[in-house]
Amino acid sequence: MPNTLTTSYLKDSIFKPGLFEGKVAFITGGAGTICRVQAEALVLLGANVAIVGRSPEKTEKAAKEIQELRSGSKVLGLGNVDVREVKNVQQAVEKTVKELGKIDFVIAGAAGNFLSDFNHLSSRAFKTVIDIDLIGSYNTAKATFEQLRQNKGHIIFITATLHYYGLPMQSHASAAKAGVDALARSLAIELGPSGVRSNLIAPGPIENTEGFERLLPPDTIERALKNIPLQRTGTTQDIADTTVFLFSNASSYITGETIVVDGGQWQTGSTMSIAGLYPEVIVAQNEDKPKI
Ligand code: HXC
Repeated sequence: MPNTLTTSYLKDSIFKPGLFEGKVAFITGGAGTICRVQAEALVLLGANVAIVGRSPEKTEKAAKEIQELRSGSKVLGLGNVDVREVKNVQQAVEKTVKELGKIDFVIAGAAGNFLSDFNHLSSRAFKTVIDIDLIGSYNTAKATFEQLRQNKGHIIFITATLHYYGLPMQSHASAAKAGVDALARSLAIELGPSGVRSNLIAPGPIENTEGFERLLPPDTIERALKNIPLQRTGTTQDIADTTVFLFSNASSYITGETIVVDGGQWQTGSTMSIAGLYPEVIVAQNEDKPKI
């Protein structure tokens, strides 16, 4: 399965061409492996999109490539945007409104993660992930709220299933994503009366993504896959399809919800624990001098 979508998506998908004609989406982390494909699906189905990211080269290149998917589409690539700084996000929102007219859909997708046991996770490292994932999601909602309110829009937060258990090597990301879930649900309650929906997508093991490569060491993959009820890894298109469903009117009565897209994996327990690494891998780490 390819990483990115092509025009054949329009032929094979159950979604109708032009579904999002006249809509504009704003996507943080939009050049990344998951959010890029969400952007592609929206553009193929008629939307114009702004993708924002830290790296100008990567973001601008991705925007150019996505724009080629549909003639007449407009895709902005806004680099040098760090979601940890609300002013950065605000400026990106202003540019998007200036160039594309408005914002209807928002995806808070920028995230940072790595495997680290608690003993080697410094206070700064913990805060870095909280800042990118949680504060970054808040900043994205904050900076786009005026547009969301004006256009009765919809914000989707990209979360995870890490925090559904106590997962080793992921205390930082688990804490951050638990916060993102809480934020999204509160916003659903507060913003619903203004016509704004707030939902979450929790991807599981999605092949060909940065998260997959960072979090599943190669020697654990085969064993981990056996524990996925649907017996396959997910694809970026699985996430894109869920996104299209959520942004469409087919889900117009859904807010404050998480759609887990993981082949049923979280129901079966922690991938790493079942891969036979626990507890030895952690016990050894706990013996070192703590990194503060
Ligand atoms: C321990 C680490 C570390 C590691 C960084 N740090 N990597 N600690 N193990 N592997 C520590 C550093 O030592 C430093 O602390 C602190 O984190 C900040 O590091 P910087 O490099 O200065 O931060 P920054 O440049 O802002 O980079 C942020 C980052 C980086 C998160 C650390 O990896 C990044 O930019 N990632 C973005 C892309 C990404 O992560 N994509 C994956 C998303 S996947 P000290 O104390 O030493 O100064 C994802 C999926 C989740 O989120 C769910 C999957 C199912």
